[in-house]
Amino acid sequence: MGGGGCASVVRHPLIGTPRPSLVRPAVLRYHHGMSTQRIRDVPFAVSGATGAAGSRVAARLADSGQSQRLIVRDANRAPDLPGAEAAEASYEEPEAMRVALAGAETFFMVSAGEDADRVRQHVAAVDAAVAAGVERIVYLSFLGASPEATFTFARDHWHTEEHIRASGVRYAFLRNSLYLDMLPTMAGADGVIRGPAGDGRVAAVARDDVADAVVAVLLGEGGYEVVEELSRVTGRDITYHAETLDEAYESRVSYGAPGWEVEGWVTSYSAIAAGEMNLVSDAVARLTGHEPQNLPEFLRRYPESCQHLFPGNPVNRDDSSPPG
Ligand SMILES: NC(=O)c1ccc[n+]([C@@H]2O[C@H](COP(=O)([O-])OP(=O)(O)OC[C@H]3O[C@@H](n4cnc5c(N)ncnc54)[C@H](OP(=O)(O)O)[C@@H]3O)[C@@H](O)[C@H]2O)c1
Repeated sequence: MGGGGCASVVRHPLIGTPRPSLVRPAVLRYHHGMSTQRIRDVPFAVSGATGAAGSRVAARLADSGQSQRLIVRDANRAPDLPGAEAAEASYEEPEAMRVALAGAETFFMVSAGEDADRVRQHVAAVDAAVAAGVERIVYLSFLGASPEATFTFARDHWHTEEHIRASGVRYAFLRNSLYLDMLPTMAGADGVIRGPAGDGRVAAVARDDVADAVVAVLLGEGGYEVVEELSRVTGRDITYHAETLDEAYESRVSYGAPGWEVEGWVTSYSAIAAGEMNLVSDAVARLTGHEPQNLPEFLRRYPESCQHLFPGNPVNRDDSSPPG
């Protein structure tokens, strides 16, 4: 391992500015047999930190005082950020990735550069994160990720999401649209944008806004875990059991409901698994002029909604898993 250690944190006054000629972040280099014990714990590991999106995320995390490990393919190009250290690894190097991710709580994973083999690279990176003991993966995905997406690269994102879903770690997917930053580059030197887009429209998003949204999720402002919030409010350990379809039908038999109804209940969860219920929209704010409620606020307004979860409460039910 370069430098014989890993823990020193480089502080630099020029926050967020990549300055290759100045002080480098502490660099971790994997070599065979290196013990993960020697790596310090960090709340965040950020990949793609030499790229446009990842560097913006890393700079914003540094600005908010977070320590982080930058997962880069070349430490000489890692941005100098206060509280950051760099670890060299590529997605297709499972052991280097495992070491680079050891001790990181959350892995912010930028999708790799387009490649015929990209899904395999992503799968290897996710497996390495799981092996390293990462608790949460926040993956930069793409709008409309689906196995049949018209945009073939969006299919890669869906396959990656599927692998993350099955991995057992907590996750969040940010399905950004085409970067606004790309639109000017679509015009050729002759001043013509060429492409079979017909009369279609695109709702593009700036990388700056993507990075702001990613950091909101990383720092917990834009998302929360249902079980964590219910546990916090009830003072009880609320858990999630990822049922198989068979288990799901079996555990709802006791309601005595007709088949069509049970199927509706079960498939409401299947739709969540398929990513069909994770569309975040600004429609409530636009139409009503106020921000939509989130779960913490809902529970504050309607504390009775989780009364059945309080231990010893007379309305406490063993079968409290609601239908649907
Ligand atoms: N939404 C859109 O319009 C749009 C447009 C283009 C691309 N994308 C996707 O979004 C991702 C992020 O966008 P961006 O603008 O930040 O792209 P970018 O500037 O090209 O940065 C990509 C980053 O990912 C790293 N990387 C690529 N392949 C890797 C691998 N196999 N293992 C480890 N690291 C790898 C690169 O490292 P190096 O610096 O070492 O190359 C770089 O840091 C892209 O990688 C691409 O998948 C989205």
